[in-house]
Amino acid sequence: MLVALSPPTIAALVPVLLVAQILVTYLRNPLRKIPAAHPLAHFTSLWAHSIRWRSIENATLKEAHDRLGPIICLGPNEVSVNCVKGGIRDVYAGGFEKGNAKDGYNWYAFFANYGGVYNLFSTGSNKPHSLRKRMLSKIYSKSHVTASEPLLAQTSAIMYKRFLPYLSSTFSSSDPGILNMYALLSATTMDIVTCYIFGLRAGSNLIENREQVTWFLDLYNSRRSFNFWPQELPKFTAFVEKWLRYRMTPKWVEEANGEIEKWTAKMCDDAGAVMTEGISESENAPVVYQQLQNTMSKQAEKEGVGAPLTASLASEVLDHLAAGFDTSGITLTYVVHELSRHPDMQARLQRELLTLSPRFVPSSSPILPEPKAVDALPLLHAVIWETLRLHSAIPGPQPRFTPPQGCCLGPEENTYYIPGGVRVSASAGLLHLNEEVYERASEWRPERWLDMEKLGDEKRKDMESRWFWAFGSGGRMCVGSHLAVYQMKYIIAALYSNYSTTIVDDTGIEQTDSYTAPPRSDKLMIKLEKV
Ligand code: HEM
Ligand SMILES: *[C@@H]1O[C@H](CO)[C@@H](O)[C@H](O)[C@H]1NC(C)=O
Ligand SMILES: *[C@@H]1O[C@H](CO)[C@@H](O)[C@H](O)[C@H]1NC(C)=O
Repeated sequence: MLVALSPPTIAALVPVLLVAQILVTYLRNPLRKIPAAHPLAHFTSLWAHSIRWRSIENATLKEAHDRLGPIICLGPNEVSVNCVKGGIRDVYAGGFEKGNAKDGYNWYAFFANYGGVYNLFSTGSNKPHSLRKRMLSKIYSKSHVTASEPLLAQTSAIMYKRFLPYLSSTFSSSDPGILNMYALLSATTMDIVTCYIFGLRAGSNLIENREQVTWFLDLYNSRRSFNFWPQELPKFTAFVEKWLRYRMTPKWVEEANGEIEKWTAKMCDDAGAVMTEGISESENAPVVYQQLQNTMSKQAEKEGVGAPLTASLASEVLDHLAAGFDTSGITLTYVVHELSRHPDMQARLQRELLTLSPRFVPSSSPILPEPKAVDALPLLHAVIWETLRLHSAIPGPQPRFTPPQGCCLGPEENTYYIPGGVRVSASAGLLHLNEEVYERASEWRPERWLDMEKLGDEKRKDMESRWFWAFGSGGRMCVGSHLAVYQMKYIIAALYSNYSTTIVDDTGIEQTDSYTAPPRSDKLMIKLEKV
């Protein structure tokens, strides 16, 4: 039997039905048992979007976890964890995928280059990821990096022929010994990473090409504020661009990406040319490029499919150079900033560096101290580790999705069932502020990493591995961490063997509230003094 309803009755029913719908969804959602970071969080994702759009996610999550504990609900389909057991150990070591098996959404798809060609970092599911990872793990492993002849020759050339001469050239300028350390350190890490990838001849030389550094950093950093729409709401963004003909990101961002892609493609071509000519000196060996070319062409042959090799290869290496220079440059900038604020620590480090042999002194045939000797310096290690902890270059959430069958998350005494396809993340910036693991966590104290034997095994494991998350953990952990530490140690050793630093201007040094977090001002003005 049909009941005839008058139009006013229908109008009155609509809001009632809407509210009922929201209530039913709420009651059926197991996430409603998890403490809500905001009163709206159980009902809508708008709040989570809004803290991201306003770039206050880190500060907001910190406050919410302090108030509500190690697991919180950010939206009807999203949680944040801030603990090891029932947290990062389950999610990241447990192999939760970057892509959502349910709807195909992948936050990292944004990092596919050359019109959506996936690479190690942006691949959403574990299977294709491990295939690519197998091609790369060996050349980035600690034993390989430490023993690499090409890398040592490249680092030596960059330190002695570019970095140290550049530092000494700053004294003949109108502001003797004053420079923007962030730009120099980013240029240096870019040169080392691209030379390991493409070889010294085909890699970049940003240290000696000042305009190129400014050009690159401007392109690279200016895009950052436009990430929100394509990354968080790719479908909506595509819809608006297609049907409403409105660009959510300005055209020049796309052009900037194109420039960076062209620049990378040129280095690929140059490395290819060096390989065809035949590599005579080890410094010109394109270690990463060559490895990828060998393994990827074998795979393509086997499958007879896939994106054209050149685009896959370029997309892969572009990601390594971007991931590699930026994060290491940021970390080093904070090492210099903290050492400049702590002259005692700086002097202690300089005394430690005097024990290196050979020392960083120019000669007709300069040789670097052994990688193992540099790696073994306790204070240098402590200074870098403490900076990775307190000023993680990637402090923001690393999103994953719960597996289709669902899972249980939360600290042992209080776990929650989470269905499949729920976004879950943890943040290095928050894990590293745990006072129980890192006493006086908000202070930069390299001492905490010294004489660790006396702390006992458990405490040490907590500090060094369980809670230390600067490089992430599990199968998607940073593949370049050993190269990163290698280059950071050499750069700091070379700098402080010969110079002392003081701050000239550090306005805007605080980190941006974002996934990768450089200084807000993109600069750190430092004065050098010869020791
Ligand atoms: C201080 C320096 C560095 C830091 C703090 C850092 C941090 C990280 C973190 C946290 C991740 C995981 C990100 C996520 O899952 O959301 C990651 C992944 C990655 N990093 Fe690094 N990184 C550094 C240097 C490098 C270098 C030098 C390279 C050069 C090859 C590199 C290449 C990569 C790649 C390719 C991935 C993706 C790995 C995968 O998905 O299997 N990183 N890095
Ligand atoms: C994140 O927020 C907390 C609390 O406001 C702050 O102490 C910390 O420095 C922030 N981290 C970053 C990387 O911005
Ligand atoms: C490094 O310091 C030594 C003295 O310890 C000095 O002789 C040398 O010239 C300095 N090297 C550079 C490249 O500035």
